Amino acid sequence: MQTLAIIGSQWGDEGKGKITDLLSQKADLVVRYQGGNNAGHTIWVDGKKIVLHLVPSGILHPHCLSVVAHGVVLEPEAFMTEVNRVREHIPVNGKNLLVSENTAVITSWHKLIDAAREGQGAVKIGTTGKGIGPSYEDKIGRRGLRVRDLLNKDQLFKRLSETADEKIFLLEKRYNIKAPTVAEETERLWTLGQTMKEFVGDAFGILQDSLVRGKKVLYEGAQGTLLDVDYGTYPYVTSSNTTAAGIHTGAGTLNGRVDEILGITKAYTTRVGEGPFPTELFDEVGQYIQKTGNEVGATTGRIRRCGWLDLPALRYAIQCSSLTSIALTKLDILSGMDVLRVCEGYKVDGKVFTTARPGMDLARVEPVYRDLKPFKDDFASDKLSTELQAYINLIETELKIPVGIAAYGPDRQQIKFRKDYF
Ligand code: IMP
Repeated sequence: MQTLAIIGSQWGDEGKGKITDLLSQKADLVVRYQGGNNAGHTIWVDGKKIVLHLVPSGILHPHCLSVVAHGVVLEPEAFMTEVNRVREHIPVNGKNLLVSENTAVITSWHKLIDAAREGQGAVKIGTTGKGIGPSYEDKIGRRGLRVRDLLNKDQLFKRLSETADEKIFLLEKRYNIKAPTVAEETERLWTLGQTMKEFVGDAFGILQDSLVRGKKVLYEGAQGTLLDVDYGTYPYVTSSNTTAAGIHTGAGTLNGRVDEILGITKAYTTRVGEGPFPTELFDEVGQYIQKTGNEVGATTGRIRRCGWLDLPALRYAIQCSSLTSIALTKLDILSGMDVLRVCEGYKVDGKVFTTARPGMDLARVEPVYRDLKPFKDDFASDKLSTELQAYINLIETELKIPVGIAAYGPDRQQIKFRKDYF
């Protein structure tokens, strides 16, 4: 196996960071290909907590080259703050961190517009407020800035001038928010560009060369399938392709190939922000999972909504990304509960569907549950109880792909490999 992708198979926050961190040990390159600092991967190094938002998880392994590819949207100030935070633990330089010169930039205006729309817009999405959507809008609208523009002051001023009027007008006249001028934004971004210059390069070319030379590449997905702008629960989605398709447009592959596409799946389901969530629990069971699982957003500190495992949504996630196996995380949180359920179908107008569909109004579906025997494992040894084994077997049988990893906690010893990766 030369290439491996890590994809969130639910609404994000599936525990991708820990698995990526572990598998990065065997990778030569770790590549972020979509999203931006809306993501939050919590990783522990020597007992210290590091939350990575934009820098790929490979940065914690000195042998790895971490790549921020062109499909990402990059907020230069947040990027440099994060780099400097990682530098407290590990040297970070142009040798182990590479940013594509074509990566789209998030400006101050994007962040202000994101926050303003959330406050006053027609549809409240519950965004992370990081300017992700507005930056992707400009990219698709062919008005965006790219990282290479930060390195040429005249070009930067020109690009910003071309599009500033609309943004400043919108912020000041519609939202009554004071916006930075073109000159101020040029100065700010130029200064940041100078500090990040050493990281900027031809990421696509370097990735292609590395693939040809047989280097092992891990594509690190952010967010989850149901937040994908095309496949997700639109409009309550993020603005990028979080599914495997994003790898091809946002980073590049060799001969269109990704050998293993690993879907990270929490043993239950969570969601932050607005939008439909068929298996959401509004009772004390949901509160128990939220508390025990410490389900609080790493980026925004918001409490995550919690519910049972949703097989129709997972079957759909498998189809969207051609997942080849899954990693089942946070099994320990369900241990010791009095009830254990999985959603095996959605009832819509009296008909039962086993797989979610993009056109399906998930706010209207009624989950069909199967009750299972709860498990009470303490995970002191590798031997699983019959009940937990039955839970895993059911998931494998229903999803028709293997559970390649089962995780009972964040530590290395609590993440069990049932299949070889890399
Ligand atoms: P945005 O990506 O900030 O535009 O937010 C759009 C939606 O995606 C909101 O519902 C966010 O809560 C959600 N979202 C974005 N990033 C993440 C993430 O890393 N984990 C979980 N939800 C996320």
